[in-house]
Amino acid sequence: MDLWVDLNRRGDRATAIYRALVAAMTDGRLRSGDRLPPMRALATDLAVSRTTVATVYERLTAEGYVEGRVGSGTFVTAAGGLPTEQPRRPVGQLQPKPGWTFRPSVTSSQLVPPPFDFRAGIPDPALFPFDIWRRLVAGELRLGAHQVGTYSEPSGHAGLRAAIAGHLGRSRSMSATADDVLVTNGTQQGLDLIARVLLQPGDVVAVEDPGYPHARELFAAHGATVAPVPVDAEGLLVQQIPPSARLVFSTPSHQFPLGVPMSLPRRRELIGWGEQHDAAIIEDDYDSEFRYTARPLEPLHAMDRSGRVIYAGTFSKSLLPSLRMGFLVVPESLRAALQAARQLTDWHGVTALQAALARFIDEGQLARHVRRASGVYQQRRDAVIDGVQRHLGEWLEVVPSAAGLHICARSRPGLVLDSAGLLVAARRQGITVEGLAEHHAMPPAGPVQTGLVIGYGMAQLPSIDAGLAVTGRLLRRFVSRSATVQ
Ligand SMILES: Cc1ncc(COP(=O)(O)O)c(C=O)c1O
Repeated sequence: MDLWVDLNRRGDRATAIYRALVAAMTDGRLRSGDRLPPMRALATDLAVSRTTVATVYERLTAEGYVEGRVGSGTFVTAAGGLPTEQPRRPVGQLQPKPGWTFRPSVTSSQLVPPPFDFRAGIPDPALFPFDIWRRLVAGELRLGAHQVGTYSEPSGHAGLRAAIAGHLGRSRSMSATADDVLVTNGTQQGLDLIARVLLQPGDVVAVEDPGYPHARELFAAHGATVAPVPVDAEGLLVQQIPPSARLVFSTPSHQFPLGVPMSLPRRRELIGWGEQHDAAIIEDDYDSEFRYTARPLEPLHAMDRSGRVIYAGTFSKSLLPSLRMGFLVVPESLRAALQAARQLTDWHGVTALQAALARFIDEGQLARHVRRASGVYQQRRDAVIDGVQRHLGEWLEVVPSAAGLHICARSRPGLVLDSAGLLVAARRQGITVEGLAEHHAMPPAGPVQTGLVIGYGMAQLPSIDAGLAVTGRLLRRFVSRSATVQ
């Protein structure tokens, strides 16, 4: 807190400082539990002697406004300051523009980690190499490490773009240069930038159904008409994409949430469809670094001969979602527009973190971490698949998939699962898992698929079987036969 004290007025300086501090405590600028500035710092700021400040602090202590804590400073007491809650402010009559009905969704950080944690798409932070990351970030947080005092390029730190291009060449056989890469604060920002430069209100955007709700909502928030398209065992049903779609959002490596990889014929069909209809295609490759069985299929980006695939990558799964690090690989025709969109919205992200990530990749730490973490996740995944087959197999079947941090277990033909009811009952038993039906658009594009989306990023080996056994005991109450719903 900056303390303004009028030292030109008559009266002694200690009294003026005392009054200023009491005023700050009375009007809420200093609240209970807040720390007063260190004596030496305040004395320097106000150009008074340290003894003057010490006298003030002693008086405030004697009067019960503040208390000294050995080794940590002087703090406002419960009696001295207002409670720490915010002052009441008027609710106000201001409203969002018509049509803006969006509300923030509950994020994983707002849930208390459950004993049986099957949340989808969350990596285990215990596997993250914090020591190495700290060293690299610390290396960037000093004068001269990079141009800390200036605004950076909107496409992101040049070293990181080069490192990402190299990483994609090695891990995904993609040919991309640093110039093709635009660093983002995660995929969500990438989608936002794409929507800004490609979409006009009312444009049709085709999305997978079931699919990724945050992509659906983002496109809708930009005024697009979102058209859900069903997904089968080979991925997006390309023939059902509306011919007017200007943009297609897809997750070919590990369909979200079903988990199926898009087959090679379907990939070719999608590229052909895009060429025929002159549409853009987003390839959201969010978690395929963690790969357990088959070799990865060729990315759409590598099959694209007409510059219409925008590849979106993220470090939210391979590192941590809280780092907010991702990237787009963009066709040259969109490069300048996307860079401008980035610059207009937030300039360029945090350069020190981008530079640290560049080193992390160049030193081989990313590859090492992914290799190590994949081994751990593979064990958890095997245990989950085993547990599903044993405890839930009568009603659910595991959807084949080869990558990522979750699997999907779909209701067997002719059965339907009331996942909303099951999820509540499971939560009471300390189990958090997601429902498949909840990932459908409203209204859904086709028959609603029911089942469970089961994450294993955070699922701890000793508790997996027990958690699924309890889920199995609960589940039978929520399954019914249906002729109409798959
Ligand atoms: C389908 C899909 N795409 C992308 C992401 C990652 O988004 P971000 O990079 O914004 O964290 C997720 C995370 O859950 C996801 O499920």
